[in-house]
Amino acid sequence: MLRNFFEKKDFMIIKKRKKMIAILLAIIVFITTFLLWQNNSIVVTRINITNVKIPDVFTGYNIVHISDLHNKKFGKNQSVILRKIVKEKPDIILITGDLIDKNKTDIGVAMEFIYGAINICPIYYVTGNHEKLSGVYSTLSQLLINAGVIVLENAKTVIEKEQQKIEILGVQDPQFSTNSYSDAFVVDESLKSLTDSNDNTFKILLSHRPELIETYAKNEIDLVFSGHAHGGQIRLPIIGGLFSPNQGIFPEYTKGVYYKENTSMVVSRGLGNSIFPFRIFNRPEIIVVTLSKT
Ligand SMILES: [Fe+2]
Repeated sequence: MLRNFFEKKDFMIIKKRKKMIAILLAIIVFITTFLLWQNNSIVVTRINITNVKIPDVFTGYNIVHISDLHNKKFGKNQSVILRKIVKEKPDIILITGDLIDKNKTDIGVAMEFIYGAINICPIYYVTGNHEKLSGVYSTLSQLLINAGVIVLENAKTVIEKEQQKIEILGVQDPQFSTNSYSDAFVVDESLKSLTDSNDNTFKILLSHRPELIETYAKNEIDLVFSGHAHGGQIRLPIIGGLFSPNQGIFPEYTKGVYYKENTSMVVSRGLGNSIFPFRIFNRPEIIVVTLSKT
């Protein structure tokens, strides 16, 4: 009788343990699947930018914005991300830095993306802080130039369409500066040398850092593309992003469009990760901006 009681008790304990293990496994599978989805499934965000300075012939001009790839792979030879870009029929692709990552630097993975993307349309590129921190930028920049990418290191260029033009400016990430001035000062100096307040051409700026919006507005840039904040890494309702480099906790500029005086700034949540390895409620993002004259 007593033996039967203990056998039954043991059976109940084993059954309970099995149930606990099954629940634990289900939770692990759910969390793993959720994190894989959150970190690998790309979202396409479409934004319309209107401005009186945009020439008529640039109405409908499609710009794909890529930022902070951080050596991440999206399919074999980056086929997943490239397929998504092709679908958007871009006129140009803008890359705003951190194509490589300082902790897992792999130029090959970065170039797989570039070799595919350059067959879609022209690419304009600026550095992020990770290009400097990786220590391999000179090799990367040479490969980018050889592939046909327009590398803007504190430089500008013009896009012409039916005798109308817009300007594309690019500043190098302030991490490249060897002096002790602030990031804002370094970028401000670069922009001063690239802009002329008497010139009314629509100006697009590529700059990795969104926290320098005041500097962009001061230099009368019309439209800025930036990244760096990784969407605040973890996003919560109402609160938004939780942290980002150079902005700290509860960062102000993490995703979407921000306005300051006559400047509009598009901030990409980016595609890859760096020191913090996960994105939560913050899937990798491709931005598609369509221009139109007001
Ligand atoms: Fe980054």
